[in-house]
Amino acid sequence: MSDALELLSTRRSAKPNELAGPAPSAAEIDRLLTVASRVPDHGKLTPWRFILFEGDARHTAGDAIAAAFRAKYPDAKPEQVEAERQRLARAPLVVAVVSRAAPHVKIPEWEQVLSAGAATMNLVLAAHASGFAASWITEWYAYDRAVLDALGLAAHERIAGFVHIGRPSGAPSDRPRPALNEIATRFGG
Ligand SMILES: Cc1cc2nc3c(=O)[nH]c(=O)nc-3n(C[C@H](O)[C@H](O)[C@H](O)COP(=O)(O)O)c2cc1C
Repeated sequence: MSDALELLSTRRSAKPNELAGPAPSAAEIDRLLTVASRVPDHGKLTPWRFILFEGDARHTAGDAIAAAFRAKYPDAKPEQVEAERQRLARAPLVVAVVSRAAPHVKIPEWEQVLSAGAATMNLVLAAHASGFAASWITEWYAYDRAVLDALGLAAHERIAGFVHIGRPSGAPSDRPRPALNEIATRFGG
């Protein structure tokens, strides 16, 4: 098997809090984002963008997540609020992939959203191929307007994923995968 097929056949998500430092270097991050940007994109609209969270900025974003959590759950315990503040600080690097899909005269919005998913998956795979592990998650704060405002998302923008990237702490066991005969059919067969 080629190295690429081996990677694709064995990749597993890591848990965000099992992703250790050190974070990817600036050059490694450039490489990851360059690969993430190299995806099919009908109409060449670049209907996605990236926001990087590193170092203290992860806690600044965490303050907004904690504030939104407190607003939703005023009776939350301080330790729960603190856990929310740590959301983006579990891994040394978090990349938010933001879908910029919008109505267009020719290109369906659906196809723009799919391109954002492809960019997110490419980022995950590039991280694994570079010796890191990754976790593609959204969690509640990806859908909270106050958090999205604090992160600078426009009204039409959406979070495709918060990709957590760091050093793997071990090889995770696999999970069951779909049986091909349940998801693949031969037309006319
Ligand atoms: C758009 C999207 C959002 C996701 N959000 C979460 C999430 O918030 N929490 C979670 O535990 N897994 C989430 N997942 C699932 C994980 O990325 C991952 O697929 C899952 O842990 C299974 O691991 P695997 O990638 O090794 O198959 C999400 C997946 C996608 C595609």
